[in-house]
Amino acid sequence: MARVIVLGSLNMDLIVETARRPAVGETVMGSGFRALPGGKGLNQAVAAARAGARTIMLGRVGDDGFGRALLDLLDRQGIDSTRVDTDRDAPTGIALITVCAGDNTIVVASGANMTLTVDAGDGPEILAGDVCVAQMETPTIATAAFFARARRAGGHTILNVAPALPVPAALLADTTILIVNETELAALANTDVKDSDDIDHVAAVAAALVAADRQVVVTLGKRGVLSLARGHAPVVLNGHRVDAVDSTGAGDSFVGNFAARMALGDRPGEALRYANAAAALAVTRRGAAPSMPTPREVRLLRGE
Ligand code: RIB
Repeated sequence: MARVIVLGSLNMDLIVETARRPAVGETVMGSGFRALPGGKGLNQAVAAARAGARTIMLGRVGDDGFGRALLDLLDRQGIDSTRVDTDRDAPTGIALITVCAGDNTIVVASGANMTLTVDAGDGPEILAGDVCVAQMETPTIATAAFFARARRAGGHTILNVAPALPVPAALLADTTILIVNETELAALANTDVKDSDDIDHVAAVAAALVAADRQVVVTLGKRGVLSLARGHAPVVLNGHRVDAVDSTGAGDSFVGNFAARMALGDRPGEALRYANAAAALAVTRRGAAPSMPTPREVRLLRGE
């Protein structure tokens, strides 16, 4: 069976809920403080493992309590963490997350995530059909080496351009599936895209990033998802209606579940439908990694 190999960030998420966001210089009262596992890389690895894929994580934590807690979580989820190394100097990454009316704002202090080094020969052997996944919270030079090796081996390469940061041309060229939300698409295409824009406009902007060997997937929040591939008509799936509690990790649920379903042999259209439902379910629960759904929950939401 093909595997999901995730190179990415591991953070401890420090979460507070508030009824109103503070203005600059203002203090507001919050509640419900929690410290929960997160980081886009870890969240996507947990999502893939819960979906049933053999999952390997590449990354770096600090030599501290947060780092040990994150490694412990990976082990409990059955994720191969033998290639998550420990930095003796830099602390484990953290994310300060404010949740307000179901939506979040996030500030990340990367710590050890940004000291990660991956050379062209590093990491597990990649086999044809393996699904290699990365985001933008670890050094792009490491991701580029990882993706170049994956392409040589005949693997798929999914780049989730989150957060929105410049993507080096060589990395983009080695990406077979690009996954972005509207904000990330706007930054990448250097144009304006809002979540209120007509989907035809979003599709027109995304089309410029499609290549012969590169599919582009745009997650549209509660509106669903759009997928474009050369030689195929655009696919638009409506979002599932759910009671939103916390949107943190919804994009990661989409990416991890999409990667897992590809590794498990789904055709792209079915992987997209599965991931669309899995993203909606993540919004119904608090936290990032803990909100990743099981296949049974996805089946129920899809009425199967
Ligand atoms: O995508 C959500 C994640 O972004 C959080 O878990 C936080 O750690 C940041 O990486």
